[in-house]
Amino acid sequence: MSNFSFEPTGRIFKEREALLEEWTPETLVGRDQELEQYHAALQPVIESETPSNIFLYGKSGVGKTAATRFLLDQLKESAANVDHLDLHTVEINCDGLNSSYQTAVALVNELRNPANQISNTGYPQASVYQFLFDEIDDLGGTILIVLDEVDHIEDDSLLYKLPRARSNGDISNAKLGVIGISNDLSFRNQLSSKVRSSLCEKEVSFSAYNAMELTKVLRQRESVAFHDDVLENGVIEMCAAYGAKDSGDARQALDLLLESGDIARERKADRVKEDYVQEARERLQTDQIIEGISNYSLHGQLVLWALTVLQEQGETPARTREIRGPYEMLCEQEGNNPVSDRAVREYLAELETLGIIKSTEINRGKGGGKYKKHELNQSTSSVRAGLEELMGTAP
Ligand SMILES: Nc1ncnc2c1ncn2[C@@H]1O[C@H](COP(=O)(O)OP(=O)(O)OP(=O)(O)O)[C@@H](O)[C@H]1O
Ligand SMILES: [Mg+2]
Repeated sequence: MSNFSFEPTGRIFKEREALLEEWTPETLVGRDQELEQYHAALQPVIESETPSNIFLYGKSGVGKTAATRFLLDQLKESAANVDHLDLHTVEINCDGLNSSYQTAVALVNELRNPANQISNTGYPQASVYQFLFDEIDDLGGTILIVLDEVDHIEDDSLLYKLPRARSNGDISNAKLGVIGISNDLSFRNQLSSKVRSSLCEKEVSFSAYNAMELTKVLRQRESVAFHDDVLENGVIEMCAAYGAKDSGDARQALDLLLESGDIARERKADRVKEDYVQEARERLQTDQIIEGISNYSLHGQLVLWALTVLQEQGETPARTREIRGPYEMLCEQEGNNPVSDRAVREYLAELETLGIIKSTEINRGKGGGKYKKHELNQSTSSVRAGLEELMGTAP
C-alpha cells in the first residue's frame, strides 16, 4: 500500500460505539431473576419508607453496575410521580479510593457544590464523617448511596457508620440507604458480623451468564451496532458459547464480537464470519497473556516459554524436571543463569493462578510420591504470540 490516507468506508458497523463498555442499553436482557429480587429490595423507597441497605455480588461482567443504573433510573422516573417523595441517588466507584477516609471525602465532594470541595488530606476522620452527615441531612428526602466495587475499601469504618447513620443518630432528617456492590466473592464473608448485618440487609446474587443469556445480550447489540445481515449465521452463538465457557462475563463476550467485527473490516470483508471469531479470540487471549505476564520477571517468562516449546513438540503435560531442559537452553540463549528448581516450581504455580497454564497433581500411591504435570491452558499460538511480543523473536 503506497497511499496511507484515510477514508471512511462505513463497512460492517452502523454504530460501533454500541459494543463499547460505556454504552448503556435501554433494557437489560437475561437478568430477569436478579432484576426481580433487586426491584423488590428497592420497593420501600417508592413507598416513602426508609430504604433497605442492599448488597450485590457476583463475578465480573455479570451486569451488577448495569442493573443498578437501569433500576435506579426507573426508580427516579417513578419517584417523580409520587407526592412528597424527594429521591436523590449518588453513585461512586471505590476503585482507587482504597480507604474509608478517601471514600468519605469523595462522597462529601459529590454532595457539595464544586466551589466548596474538600481536599484529600488535612481533616481528622471524624470531621470528614461529620461533613458527610451534614450534607446528607441538609439534602434530606430519601438518599441512595451506591458504593460500586466496595471491596476496594480496605477498612470497614465507613461500611459500619454509613448504613447505621440513622439508627446511631448521626443523621435525623434524611432517609438513607446504602447499595454496596462487589465482585470479590470472599469480601462479604470477611466482613465483621456487625458490618455485614447492616450493610447486607438485602442481598442480591448475580449469577454468571449462560450461553442462552449471552445470546440475548449480543442480539440486542447486533441491531444497533451492525448493518443489517452483516453477521453470518452462528457468529453470535459462537461468541456467546465462548463467553459462557470462559467466565460468563458479558463484557468479554461483547469484546469478542467487537474484535470479530474489527477483523472483518480490516479484511475489507462484507460480512463477519465464524473464522473471524476464532481469530478474534486468539487476539484477545494474547492480550490477556501479555497483561498477565508483562510485569513478570524474566525467568517466569522463560519458564512459560520452555513449556510452550514442549507443547509445540507434543510433549505436554510435562513434569517440572522435563521443563528444566528447554528452560536452561533458553537461559543460555538469553545470557542468564537459571534459577533453582524450587523457584521454577513457584513460577509454574503463579502461571497456574493466572490461568495461563494448567497443572495436575499425579499421585503414584504408597511410596511413589507425588508430582505435578503442566500444560498450557490457552491456545499455544496465542501464548507464543504473547511471548514474542514481550520478548522479541522466539527460538
Ligand atoms: N443483561 C445485559 N444486557 C445488556 N448488556 C449487559 C447486560 N449485562 C451486562 N451488560 C454489559 O456488559 C458490560 C459489563 O456489565 P457490568 O459493568 O454491569 O458488569 P459488573 O457486574 O458491574 O462487572 P464488574 O464486577 O467487573 O464491575 C457492560 O458494558 C454492560 O452494559
Ligand atoms: Mg461493575
